[in-house]
Amino acid sequence: MKVVVTKDYTEMCKLASRIFAAEITLKPDCVLGLATGSTPVGMYKELVQMYNEHRVDFSHVKTVNLDEYAGLSGDNDQSYRYFMNHNLFDHINIDKANTNVPNGTAADLQAECERYEQVVAGMGGVDIQLLGIGNNGHIAFNEPCEEFPEKTHVVDLTQNTIEANARFFSSMDEVPKKALTMGIGTIMKAKKIVLLANGPKKAQTIYDTVYGPITPKVPASILRLHPDVTIFVDEEAGALLKK
Ligand code: GLP
Repeated sequence: MKVVVTKDYTEMCKLASRIFAAEITLKPDCVLGLATGSTPVGMYKELVQMYNEHRVDFSHVKTVNLDEYAGLSGDNDQSYRYFMNHNLFDHINIDKANTNVPNGTAADLQAECERYEQVVAGMGGVDIQLLGIGNNGHIAFNEPCEEFPEKTHVVDLTQNTIEANARFFSSMDEVPKKALTMGIGTIMKAKKIVLLANGPKKAQTIYDTVYGPITPKVPASILRLHPDVTIFVDEEAGALLKK
């Protein structure tokens, strides 16, 4: 695992966007694993800017997102499909038919998880996976638990995550209590992984991810077993690493 401490959020986003752009240049039909949350917004802005400057071409790129809230359709402005369209896909030359987000309104959520797992496998796996991290160490929506979940599954969100994500909704009651998420096994199959974290609220979980025991109680800690992971943190999120 490589850890890069950047001066600030802007530098973190610039460096990470270059890695994704380089991947696309080297393999124009690559599969990008994408993430939501406030952390990757700056990186997506950088990619849009690079596209506008003709430095990157998304016409053959395919994407798979990590997760989606159960019960929210793609036109709900809190859904992760909406987030991806709004922050990235609507501003670049990607074919939306090549973009995948789990369907949060599928009648049978379990069947949707199985379908999604097949979608990822059918694309030949993810070339480079972007991750954020929850304050409690969750990646995608793999919450702290007793065993690492392997495949795409339906998850009950923890109170910690519901409270953390309530800032995007008009009230806590509106935050969905369930989500569909790639499993830890699905994520670990990606050829490369880039995790981004910024701000003081992430400092403890970044310390636990890098130095603590590898345990499903800190889901991101398993990334230490992956052969190609780079973690970018700003100085605040990396503050405890220096001690
Ligand atoms: C959500 C997403 C995660 C994301 C996390 C952190 O729970 N499912 O993929 O990493 O939020 O979000 P933020 O970047 O806003 O701190």
